[in-house]
Amino acid sequence: MSELAGAPIVEVHDLVREYRMGNETVAALKGVSFTVRQGEYAAIVGPSGCGKSTLLNLIGVIDRPTRGTVSIAGERVDQLGDARATDFRLRRIGFVFQRFYLMPALSARENIELPLAEAGVKKSARRDRAMTLLEYVGLARRERHRPSQLSGGEQQRVAIARALANSPSLLLADEPTGELDARTGAEMIALFARLNGDGTTIVVVTHDEVLARATKRVIHMRDGSIVDHGTAG
Ligand SMILES: Nc1ncnc2c1ncn2[C@@H]1O[C@H](COP(=O)(O)OP(=O)(O)OP(=O)(O)O)[C@@H](O)[C@H]1O
Ligand SMILES: [Mg+2]
Repeated sequence: MSELAGAPIVEVHDLVREYRMGNETVAALKGVSFTVRQGEYAAIVGPSGCGKSTLLNLIGVIDRPTRGTVSIAGERVDQLGDARATDFRLRRIGFVFQRFYLMPALSARENIELPLAEAGVKKSARRDRAMTLLEYVGLARRERHRPSQLSGGEQQRVAIARALANSPSLLLADEPTGELDARTGAEMIALFARLNGDGTTIVVVTHDEVLARATKRVIHMRDGSIVDHGTAG
């Protein structure tokens, strides 16, 4: 890929997220600003409770901030209503979670087809796209397996394929290697590197130093703030 990062994909400005707990207010984010450009591969690291998942959920339009702005691919998303947020997420963002969250009754292929169906893609095109993605993550021969019939690493690869189904502008992952052993984690890290090499912009939250080292930029958080923006590159 080119050394020059492209247009801004994520623009976060003065982001504050407070949680009300009875009379107390927990400030999970205390005014965070940063930019991620097209083609970047960035890790967000920091101690437990410093606000990493809170920040990722705001970028992923899963949550809304108390104050501040989030723009994804030039579009303000911090004040979207539920229906528009869901639609935006479906079309523009792929999200991968530590615990995979696959549908247990559906096969690998059907799990990948789900977001395509929600986006209105026709049945035969859905099947073709799902098979292409299964091949991309090395699981073409696991098409009919249900999640319980797959290893942890295979389930995570299905979850990544599902996240990529609608060709998102941005892939977000929260502790994607958190449930995996070292060898399976290494396969996941190789897959992310290949994805980024093929042009996908990736932001990953992780405690995994091996994964963080494999990215091109490490953003350090502490106590609700970014303390080091890392070097984009
Ligand atoms: N729904 C909630 N209500 C109240 N407080 C919350 C809520 N979600 C998170 N918090 C608090 O906000 C802070 C940041 O939480 P967050 O989940 O973003 O941390 P994290 O950096 O992802 O931690 P970890 O590495 O353990 O996953 C924590 O102090 C947490 O207790
Ligand atoms: Mg977290």
